[in-house]
Order: sequence, then structure tokens, then C-alpha cells
Amino acid sequence: MTDTFVPPPYPQARTCPYDPPPGYRTFREDAPLTRATLYDGRTAWLVSGYDTARALLADPRLSSDRNRPGFPFLSPRFESFRGRRPAFIGLDRPEHAAQRRLLIGDFSVRRVASMRGEIEEIVDGFLDAMVEKGPPADLVADFAMPVPSMVICRMLSVPYDDHDFFQDASRRLLQSDDPGVAGQARDDLADYLGRLVDGPPAEPGLLARLVARPDRPDREDVVATAILLLVAGHETTASMIAMSVVALHDHPEQLAALRADPGLVPGAVEELLRYLSIADLAGIRVAAEDIEIAGRTIRAGDGVVIPNSLGNRDAAAFPDPDRLDVHRSARHHLAFGYGVHQCLGQNLARAELHIALTALLRRLPGLRLAVPRDELALRPPATIQGVNALPVTW
Ligand code: HEM
Repeated sequence: MTDTFVPPPYPQARTCPYDPPPGYRTFREDAPLTRATLYDGRTAWLVSGYDTARALLADPRLSSDRNRPGFPFLSPRFESFRGRRPAFIGLDRPEHAAQRRLLIGDFSVRRVASMRGEIEEIVDGFLDAMVEKGPPADLVADFAMPVPSMVICRMLSVPYDDHDFFQDASRRLLQSDDPGVAGQARDDLADYLGRLVDGPPAEPGLLARLVARPDRPDREDVVATAILLLVAGHETTASMIAMSVVALHDHPEQLAALRADPGLVPGAVEELLRYLSIADLAGIRVAAEDIEIAGRTIRAGDGVVIPNSLGNRDAAAFPDPDRLDVHRSARHHLAFGYGVHQCLGQNLARAELHIALTALLRRLPGLRLAVPRDELALRPPATIQGVNALPVTW
């Protein structure tokens, strides 16, 4: 690197719904560790190699604390959170572990397995309504968004009837570039969920159980957890459902393989999680101490961004990484992160994706996009990747 080297910007907009932006080629060529320029002109380390990404995500010397000096924000909207106490995704041990521990049982493999029947009913209900109304349909509004929204509402005892409000607030929170808009969205969600936390629970859901514990966190932390679970619980899975349909539409031979053998769906879900890597806004850290890795020194206070879309396209971990292959064994992907902050909702997300994709394949064998794929309006960078609308027919 010479003194005149200006690291490429991060994040950049995707031009294809599932491939990393073309401008990330330099990051991949400079693997496993290089530099990137953030929106505010600061630079941060950028990790593009799979092994280095895993090592750093498991390294306690990296901090997730949004309020630690040097934390690398990816968009101006994150400025609105500076100085506020974040949800546990933005805390370090021991506070992070103390809060996460209280929720692990709610998202365990066993707990999620007990919800499968209910998830199947929810999936069938929204598919029935969509089929009755269409074709055509907007797969996001009619299916991909309602399914995980209703599931997380049932878990939290949040009234699903309020979905217009919280889906709109989530979108403002996650997609606006304006700190004022994002901050207001967070306040709106905090007011709404705060009222549910304070009031007598309609049904004894996860939030009511959390509040009733003798070792419960402060009210402010319970509300922050509620926002995190409600937003992460529907935005991510919704995007995966819609984008999986887009990716399979573009790879008809993979779609045909799945239709011929629905037993391939669980493996295909892992491969789609890897291939789509929708959560590139995750894996953001700041070094709390100096770290020697991959022949470089990350200094205390340096920002570190670990995009899962790049680790998931490392040929050393996934041969021929730019190929979608539903037969591949991809479960070691980084789409749910890695280390202590690895996605709490991954068992739930997997169950929702298995059930939703199996039902779409079975019930709508002619499902296809109703507009040319290149006309889809892709979401901006620094948010959950995907589309806000997906016109389909069958
Ligand atoms: C396909 C869907 C999903 C994807 C791709 C995804 C991705 C991720 C990623 C990459 C992280 C790590 C963040 C980091 O290291 O900074 C994460 C954390 C988290 N996710 Fe998910 N997620 C999904 C679904 C869900 C669902 C359904 C929920 C549940 C309600 C959920 C709740 C959380 C929570 C609470 C954390 C924070 C964990 C912690 O800090 O200990 N996610 N997710």
C-alpha cells in the first residue's frame, strides 16, 4: 500500500440482488484483511477472508459497544443511536451474556420445534389468502413479511393487528439515511413496546415472562430487547424468503432440483443464507486492544467491519463460491454471524424458511417473477439487503 492509496468505500450498493457489489472485488483481491473508507471519510479494517472473519468474530478483544470511541458506523442514521444504551447486540460481556442468557430457552431447537405446527398454519393461512386474491401478488407484502411478523408477534404477545405501524417503523429505522428519521422510528417503537411492557400482558408471552423474572433487566433494557426481537425477528426472514425466490428464479436448474426432491430444502436454506448474505450491516466492531492477525496489527480504537457476504464467498471455505448449489454443504456459513453474538433467532429463522419455501414449492409450482428481474428496486446499502416489493405470478 502506498501513501496515496485511498481505500474503496464500504458499504456499496448491490447491482445484483445476491452478488456482492462489483466494487467489492478489490476487497476480495486483498483478502483476508484490507482497508475501507466509511461514509464519514474515516477508514476501518475490512475483513474478507473466511478464517480471519471467524477468528475475529470469536475474539473478545473486539467490542460490539456502539458507544466505544472509534466504533465504525456504516450510515449517518446510526448517529442517532450514539450516546443511547443499545440493545444487547450492541453490548459486550458481561452485560451482553447476562441479557442473552435470559432468552436462550425461548429460541432453542426444542422450543422452535414445538412451534412448527403453528408456523405451518401461519404459512398456509397467508398462502391461502394470496392465492384467493391473485395472481398477481406482491410476495413481500402478501407473504414474506406477514409470516415472520405474525410468528414474532405471537412469541412476544405483540398484537399482529398493529403490523402496519411496526413494519413502517422498522423500515424507517433500518432504511433511512437520516439520523432524525431513524431516531424518531426508534422512539416510536420504544413508546409502543414500552406500553406493552408496562401494561398487563394480553397473553403470557416472552416479554411478560422476562418482566416477571426476579433477575429481570432494567425496563430500558427490556424495551431495547423488545425492539431488537421485533425488528430482527421479521425484517431478516422476510428478506430471505423473497430473495430466495428471486435467486431460484434466476437458477432454474437449482429450482428444478428442489422441486424434484423437497428433502433438499434444509440444505438449500443454508446455501441460500450463504449465497444471499442479506445481513451485511452486522459484524461491525471496534478493537478494544491491539490484535495481531494475518500479518497486520489492528490497533486499539480501530474500526473493523466483517461483511458476511465476503467471508461467505471465500473459495477456501466454499469451493466455486459464486455458484449457487443447493447440493453443497454450506452450514458453516457466516450469514448468522459467529461467536458470542451469533444470531439468537437462527433456529427460528431456519424453521420459518424451511416451512415457507417448502409450501411455496408445493403449492405454487408455477411461481415466477411478474417483472423482469433487472427492474427490481434493490434496497440501499447499510441495511438488510433485498427488495421492498416483489411482483409475482403463478
Ligand atoms: C434469516 C434470518 C436472519 C439473519 C440472516 C440474521 C443475521 C444475524 C446476524 C449476522 C447476527 C450477528 C450480529 C453481529 O455479530 O453483530 C444476528 C444477531 C441477532 N439476531 Fe439474527 N438473523 C436472522 C433472523 C433472526 C430472527 C428471526 C431473530 C429473532 C427474533 C433474530 C434475532 C437476533 C438477535 C437478538 C441477535 C443479537 C444476538 C447477540 O448479540 O447476542 N435474528 N442475526
